[in-house]
Amino acid sequence: MTVVLAIDQGTSGTKAVVVDDEGRVLGAASVAVRPSYLPGGGVEQDAIALLDSVLQAGRRAVASAAVPVDVVTLANQGETVLAWNPATGTPSSPMVVWQDRRAEGICAELREHADDVAARTGLVLDPYFSAPKLTWLRRNATPAGVVTTSDTWLLHQLTGAFVTDITTASRSLLTDLETGTWNHHLLGLFDLGHERLPEIVDCDQVVGTTTAFGGSVRVGGLVVDQQAALLAQRCLAPGEAKCTFGTGAFLLANTGRTPVRSTAGLSASIAWRIGGQSTYCLDGQVYTAASAVRWLEQLGFIGSAADLDRVAAADAQGVLCVPALAGLAGPWWRPDATATVTGMTLSTGVPHLVRAVLEGIAAQVAELAGAVAHDLGSPLRRLRVDGGLTQSRALMQAVADLLQVPVDVYPAEHATALGAVALARMAVTPGLTLEDAVIDWTPETVFEPRWSGEQAEDFRGRWSRLAERS
Ligand code: G3P
Repeated sequence: MTVVLAIDQGTSGTKAVVVDDEGRVLGAASVAVRPSYLPGGGVEQDAIALLDSVLQAGRRAVASAAVPVDVVTLANQGETVLAWNPATGTPSSPMVVWQDRRAEGICAELREHADDVAARTGLVLDPYFSAPKLTWLRRNATPAGVVTTSDTWLLHQLTGAFVTDITTASRSLLTDLETGTWNHHLLGLFDLGHERLPEIVDCDQVVGTTTAFGGSVRVGGLVVDQQAALLAQRCLAPGEAKCTFGTGAFLLANTGRTPVRSTAGLSASIAWRIGGQSTYCLDGQVYTAASAVRWLEQLGFIGSAADLDRVAAADAQGVLCVPALAGLAGPWWRPDATATVTGMTLSTGVPHLVRAVLEGIAAQVAELAGAVAHDLGSPLRRLRVDGGLTQSRALMQAVADLLQVPVDVYPAEHATALGAVALARMAVTPGLTLEDAVIDWTPETVFEPRWSGEQAEDFRGRWSRLAERS
C-alpha cells in the first residue's frame, strides 16, 4: 500500500490530507492564510506564513493519520510568484498572488506582441499568468536572487531541488505549448532572458526527498491545483469538464493529446504530462467566487459562506450583478473591469443582492461553458463540480439553470488533493496507469436544470450585455 501526504497549497490557505490506495482519507488538516488586498489591485500573501501553513497542515495531517507516509505531493496555485535568495531560501518579496493586477502596465507595454504570445503559449497576455508578475517583481522588488512561481520555492524549502512541474510552467507565458520547454524569445520579451530557470519536470516524477513531515520521504506528483481537480474528477477523455469553486472558479475541459487553441477567449495549457506524454486542457476563469462571497461577508450581508442559501432571495427581483471584483478573465480579458450591480429599487434588500452575486458567478461559469462548446464544436453534456462553494445549493442550482446541463457534485471536499495523490502514486509505482491511479466516484448530488431554455437565454443575454459594460 502507498500512503500519500497531499498538500493543496491554495489562495486562501493550505489543506493537507493523508490518503491510502483506496482513496480513504486517514488524516486531514488545514491552515488558513488570508491574502492582503492592496489599493491599485495588489493581492499578496506572506511567504513565510504560506510556508508555515504547508508545514503545519502537513504535520497535523500526518499526526492525525498515525501511519507512515510513503510520498509527499504538492498541488500549487499555478500563477503566484515571489522573489527569493536561492543560497539561503529566504524570500525577498511577498507572494504576488494570481489575482494581483499590478502587472497590467507590463501587459500593456507588450500589447503588440499579444497574438505572437498567444500563438506560442496558448495563453492570453494578462497579469493573471506568471510572467508579467515576474517582470513586475524584477522591476519593483529586488535585483538579486531568483523570481519563480510559489511551487519552486516551496519545493526548494522541502527538498533543496530547483524545479517546477510542466503544468505550472505551462501557465507562465514563457513556455511553448507544444514542446513544454522554456522559450527564449518569450523570456527576452518579458525581460527575463538572464533569469535562472527551474528545471521542468513531468507530473509523475519524483524530485527529491523531504524530512519536513517526519522521516525521509520522497516528493513527487507535482501539478497545478486546477489540473489536479480535473484529474480527480476523472475528466480523462476529451470534452469532459469540471469547475472548481474555490477562491476563484475555474472551468477546465480535457482536450486530449493535441492542444486546442481557443478562438473564444479561453486559455490552453497542459493538463498533465506523464511519461513524457502531454494531455491538454482548455480553461476559463472566474477570478472572484469565494472572494466575492467573502466580500459579502465584509459588507456584513452574510456571516459566512454557510449563510448563503439562508440569506439569498429565491428571486433577485431584477437585480443583476457582475462580480468582477478583481477584473474579468476570459472571454473578456479586462483586468481593469470592476464589479457592477444594476436593477436596484427601494424594495431591493440584502437577500436580492446576495442572490444576484450568486447568479453573477454562475453566469460567468455559463459564459465559460459556452466558450468551451464553441472551441470543441459541441456543447458540454454535464459539468462536474467541486470546491467549498459547492455547499451552496442555491449557487449549484443557478449553475445548472444557466448552463442547462446537469451538475454533478464531487463527493469529497478534497478533489484537488486527490488528483495530486493519483500523480504521486504513479510517481512511485512503476506501471500504474492513470485510469487505475484515479479513484472512481459517483456524484454526491446532481442538480438538474429547473429553468427553461428561454429563461436561461434571456438571463444570459441581459447579464452578458452588463458584463460588456463592467
Ligand atoms: O489559477 C489560480 C487557481 O488555481 C487558484 O486556485 O483554489 O486557490 O482558488 P484556488
